[in-house]
Amino acid sequence: MQVEQLPPIVTTLSDLEHPYMKGAWTPMYGEVNASRLAVIEGKIPTDIDGIYVRNTEIPVHNPIGRYHPFDGDGMLHLISFRNGQADYRNRFVRTRGFEAEQEAGRSLWGGLMAPPGASLRPGWGAHEGLKDSSSTDVVVHAGKVVSTFYQCGEAYLLDPDTLENQGLAGWAPIDGVSAHTKVDESTGEMLFFNYSKHAPYMHYGVVDRHGKLVHYVPVPVPGPRLPHDMAFTRNYAILNDLPLHWDLEALKGGFHATRMHDRPSRFGIIPRRGNGHDIRWFEAAPTYILHFLNAYEEGDEVVMDGYFQENPEPGPMRDAPRGFAHLMGFLDQHMTRPKLHRWRFNLKTGTTTEQHLDERVLEFGMYNQRYAGRPYRYAYSAVATPGWFLFEGFVKHDLATGQSWALQLAEGRYASEAPFVPRIDAKDEDDGYLVSFITDENTQTSECLLIDCKRFEAGPVVRIALPHKISSGTHSCWADRRFIRDGMLPPP
Ligand SMILES: [Fe+2]
Repeated sequence: MQVEQLPPIVTTLSDLEHPYMKGAWTPMYGEVNASRLAVIEGKIPTDIDGIYVRNTEIPVHNPIGRYHPFDGDGMLHLISFRNGQADYRNRFVRTRGFEAEQEAGRSLWGGLMAPPGASLRPGWGAHEGLKDSSSTDVVVHAGKVVSTFYQCGEAYLLDPDTLENQGLAGWAPIDGVSAHTKVDESTGEMLFFNYSKHAPYMHYGVVDRHGKLVHYVPVPVPGPRLPHDMAFTRNYAILNDLPLHWDLEALKGGFHATRMHDRPSRFGIIPRRGNGHDIRWFEAAPTYILHFLNAYEEGDEVVMDGYFQENPEPGPMRDAPRGFAHLMGFLDQHMTRPKLHRWRFNLKTGTTTEQHLDERVLEFGMYNQRYAGRPYRYAYSAVATPGWFLFEGFVKHDLATGQSWALQLAEGRYASEAPFVPRIDAKDEDDGYLVSFITDENTQTSECLLIDCKRFEAGPVVRIALPHKISSGTHSCWADRRFIRDGMLPPP
């Protein structure tokens, strides 16, 4: 393994007395390029060709007010596979906020838990006072890596080979882009939404495979909302208006406190190139949904899978360090209790039917992206560690038979969100691997795993050493090199 170290960034963080600055969440700052990574166990498959990229939140300076892990600056970790070899590199996303704080040598923006008016400069996004740290999601679209921020920031473009900063996406509208954009590999289109504190409160848009904004329409909802994700089928996009959002009274005083409101969930189904008046709203049981899986059309119905939170307002966590009980409660999936769930929206009758597909606490689902928007059979969910925003295993579901398979990591080993990697010339939907980064608290090292999805419980087929220990993080994606080059792929 050859490792090239980049010049260090400016970091002034000195107070690490925070549960999300310790253990697997310990911040790290080194940026490296590493080639020909060493294999710890197994063999790197020769039948995959592409990149796995994951975003991470890194606190760089002492916070203004209390730190929330969603405030940290975005860092991308990229592992590239080709011909049975793997290379790695990581970079901070050079956002405008990151660069300004590098120059100032301190925090200039307050975070999610800071008091009103804490930021020293105008902020970004729906909240309007936060730094756009571009630390939530990452996708590959129109040949670029695109990193995004959950509160609707700008979309930052990076080179998929080098992770060099390529500036801001020109297509991003004034109200920004929410973190979870959706890429349809079969058309090369990216579907996105944003939300804000001013009417019409939500928009929906489409960017074509050349990176051009080709559709952007208002999605009127009755007030400020906090949607986190969306879904799509071959013909429709599915937006949501859920009862968990900012309290309007608190908002008048500048406080961004969320609470459940006493009303149903609403899902808006819009033709992919439709306008506001084309949206059909469906009511469903009240909940909050962080992430959806796939959606597809079946007869008169639109079928959508996701994770239904049974307790979206979890309250304080018992035994949390003093001052962190609410923060840790919201971050503990065993308190919010997301369950794999299926909604069916009947376009003829306007009715919704819904049910849990599993009673275990699961989230951060992945599936074979070639089947996005189409009928699919296999879903892969992450299993959270009780008490923490950390993952300690995965579950594969066969949604046709209800069968499932589980893989649990050894104690002290934590995974990251694990996308599905189709084999080159895959024969069927689950012909491929899950890919994940592991942070190992026992050895203080990190590695990359590939799990053969046809032999899910057999353990990883390869463990590849990373050149440094990485912090736990958020979302990720896989992109085939062919998709990066052509901007679209033929459907299965
Ligand atoms: Fe998310």
